[in-house]
Amino acid sequence: MRLRLFPSIYFLCFSVPYSFAFSIPSVPSFAAAKHLPHNQEPLREAFDGWIDREERISLDRLLANVKPGGANVQGNKDVVDGTVIASPSKEAPDYWYQWVRDAAITTNTLVDLYADSPSSQLSSSLQNILTAYARLQADLQRTPNPSGTFNDLQGLGEPKFYVNGSAFTDSWGRPQRDGPALRAITLMRYLRAYNASHPTLWSSASPGPESFYSMLYTAEFPARSIIKADLEYVSHFWNHTSFDLWEEVDGMHFFTAMIQLRALREGTHVARAFGDEGAARWYSEQAGYLERFVRRFWNKDKGRLVATLWSRRSGLDCAVLLGSLHGLPAAGEQEEPVFPPWADEVLDSLMGLARDMGKRFPINTLAPRGDGDSGNRLEGVGIGRYPEDVYDGYGTSVGHPWFLCTSSAAEILYRTASHLSATGSLTTTPLNVDFYAALLPPSSSPDLFVNTTYAAAEEPFKTVVERLRHVGDEFLEVVKTHVDSEGSMSEQFDRETGFLRGATDLTWSYGAFLQAVKARNKAAGWL
Ligand SMILES: *[C@@H]1O[C@H](CO)[C@@H](O)[C@H](O)[C@H]1NC(C)=O
Ligand SMILES: *[C@@H]1O[C@H](CO)[C@@H](O)[C@H](O)[C@H]1NC(C)=O
Ligand SMILES: *[C@@H]1O[C@H](CO)[C@@H](O)[C@H](O)[C@H]1NC(C)=O
Ligand SMILES: *[C@@H]1O[C@H](CO)[C@@H](O)[C@H](O)[C@H]1NC(C)=O
Repeated sequence: MRLRLFPSIYFLCFSVPYSFAFSIPSVPSFAAAKHLPHNQEPLREAFDGWIDREERISLDRLLANVKPGGANVQGNKDVVDGTVIASPSKEAPDYWYQWVRDAAITTNTLVDLYADSPSSQLSSSLQNILTAYARLQADLQRTPNPSGTFNDLQGLGEPKFYVNGSAFTDSWGRPQRDGPALRAITLMRYLRAYNASHPTLWSSASPGPESFYSMLYTAEFPARSIIKADLEYVSHFWNHTSFDLWEEVDGMHFFTAMIQLRALREGTHVARAFGDEGAARWYSEQAGYLERFVRRFWNKDKGRLVATLWSRRSGLDCAVLLGSLHGLPAAGEQEEPVFPPWADEVLDSLMGLARDMGKRFPINTLAPRGDGDSGNRLEGVGIGRYPEDVYDGYGTSVGHPWFLCTSSAAEILYRTASHLSATGSLTTTPLNVDFYAALLPPSSSPDLFVNTTYAAAEEPFKTVVERLRHVGDEFLEVVKTHVDSEGSMSEQFDRETGFLRGATDLTWSYGAFLQAVKARNKAAGWL
């Protein structure tokens, strides 16, 4: 039993009996992998049931990697409070570290849960984690490391720390400039959610120096102000190269730029809320430059967004999906999002990646999904990081599909379904017509014409929205096929055997699945 500090999570968060946690039915083996026909209600209910169970398992396993409370870290005195380990795996591979990026993304998932119901019992546990996370980040920011120090700000680009909070000093792909942006995004969201549920603590535009708010944001700098330090870092260094989120390439990256843009846009509003006008203007100005820069990642000739500028690689990369998802502002933000999941450019990039991966990995061709004759149709497949990948989870040989990439493909499609439903119409363009045509079933599909607007009541619109959800489910069916009999995910699953590979219980694999399910539920809400 992994769950320790959070005995009531199952009750509070989900209206399903606690006993479910102990009676997880085994999932079908790889050999039994089959397409799940969605027109058959009992099978669909079984899939929905699996989604519910796996959602609980994922939250359980994710929290197990977070201190305070997590079963994989709580008893270990070396691990400082507020740490999110990347995986409990200490060797082959050694992921027993805190990565600034992974921790921020995982914590953002927890902020989501907190924001959903701030007064629940789960949220009071989450609040302990979130506060500990914030305190630890303040310390990590100030820990001199091979990237630099707090005073020259360069230290904020350090990608990972030991679980005891000490600097990791061996050679590594550093700096990585996405970490501070992701951390700022996570803490700004927490600030908002906390502020919404603790209105009395917010007495004026400049709260007292001892308040929780001032730990997160104060205008004075340098000060004990985590968000401002990160925003200063992002606004001053976004136009410098750094290593990508896969820690391999020094360059300018779509993922990094997208989340930096989001951080500076949201940072503008937070700075203004704290009366820090000068900073707000500076962040806003840099966000404007950055927005223009981000658009350069669209490669018209290739018909896709490329992961890294001036790179010899194809540019197809799961990092593009992640950049779109994590760069998307939380609901209620003012500006028009740049390359949101439903943007034509993102959907084209997803289609290019899925087609490549569909042919690349034997598991994707051995168990055909979709309706048999797949041709150029878009269908759910196991998605790896990028075609040229040679990291096999332990060393270098060949790449394999990743859980977090496969879940992220599903999330893009669910979010697109929700967006179209909210918009109430679909307009085809030369840029998106191939994607939507590839989405439709091979037979009995309505024709889609380019440069046409379909209203919500029209058949093509309804079919497209239905298919977005259906193909999204196909991607999660791939996840279902490859989790182990207890519902555990590692980092990867084998391209040939389908079994788990690489770091066990990778925290981000669970977080990405939880995000996809959240988007799936939202898309279902439009029915
Ligand atoms: C933190 O952990 C690392 C790796 O185990 C070790 O080398 C270092 O001495 C530890 N630092 C402290 C302050 O305990
Ligand atoms: C906190 O809430 C108050 C009251 O709703 C609002 O005026 C203020 O702008 C909020 N602060 C932030 C940083 O969102
Ligand atoms: C980066 O941006 C800053 C601020 O806009 C500017 O002063 C600087 O020249 C830019 N540096 C590079 C390398 O483009
Ligand atoms: C669709 O519209 C675009 C630009 O709006 C135009 O360039 C293209 O020729 C149109 N295609 C067709 C088939 O009408």
